[in-house]
Amino acid sequence: MRKKVVAGNGKCNTTLQEGIELAQTVNQLVTEKGDKNITVVLCTPFTHLTKVVELVDGNRIGVGAQNCAAEAKGAFTGEVSAAMVKSTGAGYVILGHSERREYYGETSEILNKKVALTLANGLTPIYCCGEALETRQAEKQNEWVKRQLDETIFQLPVEEVSKIIIAYEPIWAIGTGVTASTEQAQEMLAYIRGLIADKFGKEVADKTSILYGGSCNAKNAPELFAQPDIDGGLIGGASLKGEDFLGIINAY
Ligand code: 13P
Repeated sequence: MRKKVVAGNGKCNTTLQEGIELAQTVNQLVTEKGDKNITVVLCTPFTHLTKVVELVDGNRIGVGAQNCAAEAKGAFTGEVSAAMVKSTGAGYVILGHSERREYYGETSEILNKKVALTLANGLTPIYCCGEALETRQAEKQNEWVKRQLDETIFQLPVEEVSKIIIAYEPIWAIGTGVTASTEQAQEMLAYIRGLIADKFGKEVADKTSILYGGSCNAKNAPELFAQPDIDGGLIGGASLKGEDFLGIINAY
């Protein structure tokens, strides 16, 4: 059985104090009322990692970063390495989010370095892919996503690729309130699983957790998560409110 995962991407929100408060709320809700079969992950700003790792129940909630440096160490002012993330006790790193690709010019080449460093440090990448609205309107979303995967994580050996969580986040659904329809999300996630099966075998495909992200909330999550290929969600806005996030965790 593959893991069901609900991961919060806090993005550039919350001061340290607010982030601690939010993590405390999420921790209390998850430990008291959360579905125990769901792997819950909180991806916080770098500045919050150590504190959040300390305060959550590590058996119930994993902690992750939202990015890491493409270099292992050295003269790269302002960068935070995968080893630094690991040293906080965090276990995950979101990589390839469309906001990083779009606003910070992250290419497949850069992402390959980040994925390699993340894996080398024993962290689990939550690797994002997804198309823009024009691509969807031109019905080229499958080709787009295939290329994003072919150029990056599909280059890895099978034992590495099987450690990765994939998140499909159509850009037109992120923060817009427009969720992909259940059919659109299921269709894409089944397509991605098929690509993994073709390249790495059915066993790997069946074990890979593939998440949907983009305006996912407690209301639409039950229908999305009921689909055979949707193994959970990568949640932005709704992960900033404890009750909303719990509602998504308990949507299965
Ligand atoms: P929203 O849930 O706010 O649409 O954000 C999704 C996202 O980008 C998660 O990484």
